[in-house]
Amino acid sequence: MGANLEIADLKKLARRRVPKMFFDYADSGAWTEGTYRANETDFSRIKLRQRILVDMTNRSLASEMIGQPVSMPVALSPTGLTGMQHADGEMLAAQAAEEAGVPFTLSTMSICSIEDVASVTTKPFWFQLYVMKDRDFVINLIDRAKAAKCSALVLTLDLQILGQRHKDIRNGLSAPPKFTPKHIWQMATRPGWCLKMLGTQRRTFRNIVGHAKSVTDLSSLSAWTAEQFDPKLSWNDVAWIKERWGGPLILKGILDPEDARMALSTGADAIIVSNHGGRQLDGAHSSIAMLPRIVDAVGDKIEVHMDGGIRSGQDVLKAVALGAKGTYIGRPFLYGLGAGGKQGVTTALEIIRKEMDITMALCGKRDIKTIDGSIIAENPFAV
Ligand code: GLV
Repeated sequence: MGANLEIADLKKLARRRVPKMFFDYADSGAWTEGTYRANETDFSRIKLRQRILVDMTNRSLASEMIGQPVSMPVALSPTGLTGMQHADGEMLAAQAAEEAGVPFTLSTMSICSIEDVASVTTKPFWFQLYVMKDRDFVINLIDRAKAAKCSALVLTLDLQILGQRHKDIRNGLSAPPKFTPKHIWQMATRPGWCLKMLGTQRRTFRNIVGHAKSVTDLSSLSAWTAEQFDPKLSWNDVAWIKERWGGPLILKGILDPEDARMALSTGADAIIVSNHGGRQLDGAHSSIAMLPRIVDAVGDKIEVHMDGGIRSGQDVLKAVALGAKGTYIGRPFLYGLGAGGKQGVTTALEIIRKEMDITMALCGKRDIKTIDGSIIAENPFAV
């Protein structure tokens, strides 16, 4: 795959290898994409403290997320349509994550199903749940995740309705793709992608088709979401979902200290500070800007994780320094997947691991578990 030294290299490659509609799906935010951009740029406003002449031997990035050992505090985010970035994408990414010793989170809106991913992995992965109006289907999804021995349920709370993403609308995004001249052209110019896609049966939402009643055509994601996702979802629903699941529960999509405080009474194991990668409420603060306020509000009572904007190991370290016990990467692993399948995801994780390790050392630290606000020189988002 050539010299891929940073996540931006993988992004460039993915753009060349993945049909435009799917590359754009990953690389899009809602409306003006202002929050999507802020997620990335706000990280660079936080400055690190350079320290010298400290022993840098025996460094360790190993830690824990919800009590589960991780080789570094970086999980793979649940991302929709991952199997459209590369054939069998979720299965390959889950294998890469397993080998790297980090959690993989399978999205409800995945192409490969829970059972597909379970069939190619040996360690438990995490499952992300969207709540649809069809409660029987939701219960069935929870039970399938249990049967597959998933070791955490990640409940997404910020997508009861879908944010408007202009690229997807303009591209006429669907899975499987439509066969209009525009879509055929987008695929024909990516022959490697096509060849691999022809070699798999997994080309639509396999957690849903054949499981949810009367769902045969999911071709329009936005129409299906509008019809099926439950806009009445409330805190009360979190209670029955937790009860039915019975295992570790992570609440994803909390961006406000007041919501974080409300999350405490659910008994969840962790919350993820997230604005859905800038894909939902454009105009909201970046995740890293809100992290200190949320840690300040609830950090001593519940484990706080964050996602959004992480493009380097330095970003992970900054999030950990500001109180995140764990972080998630979405686009960085999708770019890796689009660029080079399983090896590309491995490369993305290695890039992040190396950046984190070197940065930690140059900040004068040897163990990720000792990282705190003392490595930060300046933080415009400090409480
Ligand atoms: C779905 O989760 C999306 O953000 O597209």
